[in-house]
Amino acid sequence: MTTPYVSMGLVLLGIGLVTVFGLITLLSNKLKGRTRELEQLKAQILEWNRRLEEKVVEKTKLSEVSLSQLETTYLETVTALIQAMYAKDPYLLTHSHNVANYAKAIAAELDLSTERMQRLSHGCELHDVGKIAIPDSILLKAGPLTQEEYEIVKQHPVWGARILGPLTFMKDISEMVHQEHERWDGTGYPLGLKGEQIILEARIISVADALDAMTSHRSYRKSVPLEEAVEELWRYAGTQFDARVVEACLRALKSGKLVIAHSEETHHVADKSSSAA
Ligand SMILES: [Fe+2]
Repeated sequence: MTTPYVSMGLVLLGIGLVTVFGLITLLSNKLKGRTRELEQLKAQILEWNRRLEEKVVEKTKLSEVSLSQLETTYLETVTALIQAMYAKDPYLLTHSHNVANYAKAIAAELDLSTERMQRLSHGCELHDVGKIAIPDSILLKAGPLTQEEYEIVKQHPVWGARILGPLTFMKDISEMVHQEHERWDGTGYPLGLKGEQIILEARIISVADALDAMTSHRSYRKSVPLEEAVEELWRYAGTQFDARVVEACLRALKSGKLVIAHSEETHHVADKSSSAA
């Protein structure tokens, strides 16, 4: 027999159960709604991500194209300037080419990166580009120069930097050209830079330039034997030249990685720029 208290209890229990069940259903619906929202959000994020990836690929392609266009323009500019040098004096081309080969062999001994070696090579090809501005009567003169003429020739690194100056993408090459006649002890020109104030590439060009100048025939004197040229480089290591670069040059010569090109062409200019030359 059920008492009124029991009945009341059962009714309350029923109400309680209905309430709990209602709450569970409500929560479950809310959770389902949340899950849907989360799913939508996740899909949206994935879509944004996909679009972002597409944009990155697109932008990368664009920058690759402009980079390769810039590279092409750069190489075409180097070639045009080399052609201008050739038109002025064909010897400049042979000499610059030899200097580039020697400099690359030296740079390899000094562990320069491939990219830096490539720029150095172009710097060598153009190291005398400023000679375009030197009058033919001086540049092509057969025989030694007067002091006054020599002072004019000494302006060629300044002219070189002036010619390359507007080409901002060749700023490093312009620096090499500007500094190739500086000396380790600070007695060079045109800036009178000293030691490591001179960029390494210019210090390498300086040694390679002297080596080719000494081992090439000039109209007013024959080339010197390689042994003598090596002695000269040693003599001026630490004063005119960076001793580390001279050592690297001699190592490259010894190992056969630097091979002297024996050109039959004559160099018209009495370039006194190197005391070793
Ligand atoms: Fe020079």
